[in-house]
Amino acid sequence: MTAYHFPSEFVAELRDCADIVEVVGDYVALVKSGANHKGCCPFHREKTPSFMVHREKRIFHCFGCGVGGDVITFLMKVEQLSYPEAVERLARRCGMDLSPYERGGGAVDSGDRHVSRRQELSAVVARANQFYCRQLERELDGRVGEYLDRRGISHEVARKFGLGYAPPGWDTLRRAIKSARDLDNAVAAGLLVQKDSGRLYDRFRDRLLFPIRDAAGTVVGFGGRIIGDGEPKYLNSSDSPLFQKRRLLYDLAHAKHAIAREQLAIVVEGYMDALTLYAHGIDNVVATLGTALTGDHLRVLGRYGRQAAVFFDNDEAGLRAAFRSLPTFLEAGVMPEVISLPEGVKDPDQLVRERGIEALSSCLRQRISLLDRYVAVREAENRGASVGRRRELLREVVDVVARIPDQVLAGLALRGVAERFGVSEEMVTGLFRRARRRPRSAAGRQPEVPTTEAGNDWTSLTELDPEEYYVMLVLRHPGMPVVDEELRSLLGQKLPRRLLELYAEVDGDREALLPRLAAEDHDHGAELQALYTRLELFPAPESGAAIDRELADCRLLLERRHLRREVEEINRRIRSCADEDDLTGLLRRKMEMVQRHRR
Ligand code: GTP
Ligand code: MN
Repeated sequence: MTAYHFPSEFVAELRDCADIVEVVGDYVALVKSGANHKGCCPFHREKTPSFMVHREKRIFHCFGCGVGGDVITFLMKVEQLSYPEAVERLARRCGMDLSPYERGGGAVDSGDRHVSRRQELSAVVARANQFYCRQLERELDGRVGEYLDRRGISHEVARKFGLGYAPPGWDTLRRAIKSARDLDNAVAAGLLVQKDSGRLYDRFRDRLLFPIRDAAGTVVGFGGRIIGDGEPKYLNSSDSPLFQKRRLLYDLAHAKHAIAREQLAIVVEGYMDALTLYAHGIDNVVATLGTALTGDHLRVLGRYGRQAAVFFDNDEAGLRAAFRSLPTFLEAGVMPEVISLPEGVKDPDQLVRERGIEALSSCLRQRISLLDRYVAVREAENRGASVGRRRELLREVVDVVARIPDQVLAGLALRGVAERFGVSEEMVTGLFRRARRRPRSAAGRQPEVPTTEAGNDWTSLTELDPEEYYVMLVLRHPGMPVVDEELRSLLGQKLPRRLLELYAEVDGDREALLPRLAAEDHDHGAELQALYTRLELFPAPESGAAIDRELADCRLLLERRHLRREVEEINRRIRSCADEDDLTGLLRRKMEMVQRHRR
């Protein structure tokens, strides 16, 4: 895979070309609000939008969790990309020519090794995908085409999803791969299997392949279904740096826009379910890859939409999987819903194909709280059970409720439990307290996204302290001379001061400032970017004269503060001074200062 070196002029041009509102809009549903666009922050869970994007200033900032930066920072964070990866992705999106910046095949800096590894693997997977697609095209008139017909998958849908077919041979793919390096990569990406003898075999043989993409739409692996009956029914790519089952969701790249639009993600169990629902116009659907839902999955989904509903198979396993996902949802601050299938229908795929879109719509409309469903099912078990079993059930239910971070919601849920189980509220509350005190298992203790709403009114969060306000004014002041020593000494806080220093370093060029901030060492750079974007979005006076006036006022305020601090320092030294001459000197200085202070 090609590595690039992007000169800063290229990156600056890219920033101009890329519309930050459009790029962010792929991940966040944005609405225009004054000069900004706003939406729910993809980096923490929130119900009230505090995430702002400013098209002209080309920045974003979340007033809830404080992240901020430009379009490149955004892509890096939201897609977990390195800087060069984000630049490359953006450049491709803007249709910019990358070839002048190629660094030559495979010769990559050590620092980029991880990046290029991922890229190398995904290049091999992408080529394998093309290969498998071609194989499917050839087979459409035969047995595989018949199978697709039988499953109600039109050729159009098959192409749209990029379905492929792995022929029955042991080395069809292997023979199509020419270089030794690509063979290595195909092994690492889980497409080829190396036997003890050292020989390489195709992992997928005689299977219908569902390419699995990451959120950006890059193919990272496959789920392969046997044609007809047989074991195992599905075979997935093995986990690799590229392909991690517990983080990936099938069809997220398609579904994310719809999820943002509907503010609802429907999670199904099977590839086929996702595909069939999509083909029938329900497109806010993702599928897990045969694993339980994880906190990682929910964090990803939370970037696009607030609400989630599980739509699992109509059997014991499906119900168990739904209930197992409940604590994960609750801990992530989501109250999930559940969509139930009518009697005699096995899964969502069968529902649509046998009973039509009307039956599906009616199911979707009747979704209910998964927690309620869970409590109801456990309570049904409770009836007529032994005393010991009943206590066990009650305790299990209360343990689940104890995962709800919100006190009020948890309290309400508890009351519901007490009513259903016909026991006193004191009793469930006692169990609840004990459950909350009990340390969680490692799995239950994942660091979750903050669930507290950081204020409902984002304007209140923009309040700046005097030092920040002052820096903000300096930044907005057209042609404000580069910062002098004295001004710097007025600023006690490290971040505002550093921001001004770097502003001086780029000669007061605001366009050049963000990239310069990003170049500061990691955490510090992020903090500086966040401060800068917060200041940039602050509704400052627009006219030069007003800014001048405020600057003067603000400077006076800061000088007074500075003096007061110095006086306090002298007082402290006077109190601890033993030498009389020193004392006289200190007192004199204090007099001078107080006089200045009074002016
Ligand atoms: P169809 O039977 O073709 O309708 O498939 P489905 O997608 O409805 O699958 P099913 O409901 O049986 O299983 C749900 C999901 O679990 C599948 O999409 C796979 O991700 C996974 N899965 C099912 N069977 C297997 C298996 O044998 N091995 C592995 N690794 N995963 C499986
Ligand atoms: Mn199925």
